[in-house]
Amino acid sequence: MTPLNKADILHHLSFKKPLTLHLFNQIDSTNLFLKNRPSTGTVHICCAEEQTHGRGRFGRSWYSPFGENIYFSARIPLGCEPSKLSGFGLMISLVVIKTLEDLGAFPLQVKWPNDVIWNQRKLSGCLVELVVNKSLIESEVVIGIGINVNSNSNQENSLDASWCSVYDIVGKQCDRNIIIARLIHHLDDAIQKFLIDGFSAFISEWQAVDSLYNHPITLYNASGPYQGIAKGVDQEGKLVLQDTQGELHLFSSGDTSQQKMHHPNV
Ligand code: BTN
Repeated sequence: MTPLNKADILHHLSFKKPLTLHLFNQIDSTNLFLKNRPSTGTVHICCAEEQTHGRGRFGRSWYSPFGENIYFSARIPLGCEPSKLSGFGLMISLVVIKTLEDLGAFPLQVKWPNDVIWNQRKLSGCLVELVVNKSLIESEVVIGIGINVNSNSNQENSLDASWCSVYDIVGKQCDRNIIIARLIHHLDDAIQKFLIDGFSAFISEWQAVDSLYNHPITLYNASGPYQGIAKGVDQEGKLVLQDTQGELHLFSSGDTSQQKMHHPNV
């Protein structure tokens, strides 16, 4: 495996904007590292070979073995109020798809709100956290992205078909430094676009990769679970769920799972 290397990442970066890159062999969590730093009003990026306490959504942990995958966080001053960030996490999963499809990993899809999947198996997840300032407009966002790159899902646990890696899809090991540089590039592009037009600028891109559309799903949140047919997302990235009476309901947070269709012969 090629180790993470600061010079390599910066070399592959196609733009020259000021950013501070922090690389670690081992860290508790790249998100926590950036969240706990004082604000500098500039972009900071943190990646590690291994996380001892990688964090996922809803307090879950994120398995982060040494040297295999990407554990990436970016802390970014947005210059807008946090209330303008509806759909931000969905946009991040589109950035991950763009980055990985460049490498020949396709077809990739999204599972609302922000899992990237291949053949119904999870390839990448993202955890967006806010660092809120008293002056709301100076609040910053920490974007945490975990991508399974070189882990071999067959080798690690042949019974676990719930996740996959870029290696499983393209059949070869990939240089994480190049992926990280491409990720930073696409992130920068997409965030600029988001800050101008919000999530509505990404709806058609979302629709093209929405794995849940027209499928029976369960939405889990604090007051759920709710069952219905997924009908895509609205202008703010909220999930649209149709109940058995045909009524539409909107959800801004939660987790989803697709219900298995029961074949009549089984
Ligand atoms: C999820 O799907 O539950 C989100 C997973 C997010 C994992 C990434 S790995 C880099 C960053 N640091 C963390 O502790 N978590 C995120």
